[in-house]
Amino acid sequence: METGSRLYEWFNSRVDLENILKFMKKKTVPYHRHSLWYYIGGMCLYLFIIQVITGILLLLYYKPTAEAAFESVQYIMTEVPFGWLIRSIHSYAANLFIGFVFIHMFSVFLMKGYRKPRELTWVSGVFLLFLAMAFGFSGYLLPWNQLAYLATNVGTNFAVMVPFIGQWLLEFLRGGPEVTGATLTRFFGFHVAVLPGICTVFLAGHLILVQRHGMSVPVSIEKEIRSGKAKRLEIPFFPNFLYRDALGWTLALGLIILLSTLFPWELGEKADILKPAPPHVRPEWFFVFMYQTLKYVPKALGVFGFAVAAMVWIILPFFDTKSNRGEYNRLFTIIGVAALLYVIVFTVIGYVAPGE
Ligand code: HEM
Repeated sequence: METGSRLYEWFNSRVDLENILKFMKKKTVPYHRHSLWYYIGGMCLYLFIIQVITGILLLLYYKPTAEAAFESVQYIMTEVPFGWLIRSIHSYAANLFIGFVFIHMFSVFLMKGYRKPRELTWVSGVFLLFLAMAFGFSGYLLPWNQLAYLATNVGTNFAVMVPFIGQWLLEFLRGGPEVTGATLTRFFGFHVAVLPGICTVFLAGHLILVQRHGMSVPVSIEKEIRSGKAKRLEIPFFPNFLYRDALGWTLALGLIILLSTLFPWELGEKADILKPAPPHVRPEWFFVFMYQTLKYVPKALGVFGFAVAAMVWIILPFFDTKSNRGEYNRLFTIIGVAALLYVIVFTVIGYVAPGE
């Protein structure tokens, strides 16, 4: 027997590889004209794994204090072998990750992938989106540069609008009344311990549910199958689906490395608490639609509105009984398209005509 198959046999008799392979081959994924969207969840997972690996590598050199954070990132960018690459991959992949989570969420919504029995998959998903945004927000401050310092000042300020506990929440986030080194150390704790811990639980729940239910077929395709207009087609998860997944992952990694090499992630200048803020401080792109909205409505009302909207968004699947009956629910498609357009339009306005 050659070494490869001897090694396989060794593992097989200990971890039952054969059964795992059999299971992966038995698992199938529906195949129809919208099935491209099934690859987006896997892309989110892949980018998340890149974040974990590059994040751990950054931890080897990063120092979470106001005195040393900026210099430690500078050191990573200039002295540590491939440090610039690892930091740039971490930053580009973070943005791509959040972008893909948004795409995944809206595609699932528009295909009504949340309908019975997948409502809890949806609920866990919305929490994963919030966690992804919290990862972005807390990570942004860590290099302790001027831009991040100002954006964190503006961002955490909104906490005051939360009824009853606003001031407490603000000070809890900042580690005091102002954004200082205490905020940095706190955000570091959130970013590398609290959020990964919570995220692991939600991610495990999400993936277990996806695994238990398999992929849903959009209502329109199901109707075509029922009326005999289309056939129910499926492809094996292994190797057919996984190979296509791997193609997407390879392309994504190629793009991330290309961007990181051509345009290494910038560091800017060190945060200076005494420097006056420039007129246009903008949060990271995935908060811009909310930030822009709050310029048009009273801030407290806006924050309250977003809190209500988030709660409605979480429980929305429970009200789509029409899709559960296998009928096409135009109202929910309109809600999904309206929400998507709102996010896109207000993000664009935030960049081209932010106003005061
Ligand atoms: C860390 C972020 C996330 C990861 C890693 C992830 C991963 C996945 C994977 C691998 C799948 C199966 C393939 C696919 O449908 O694309 C899936 C399905 C699903 N995800 Fe996510 N997801 C994430 C965030 C979200 C969000 C933000 C939502 C919605 C708010 C969501 C809702 C769903 C639903 C409802 C399904 C089932 C779709 C169906 O059966 O048609 N996920 N997710």
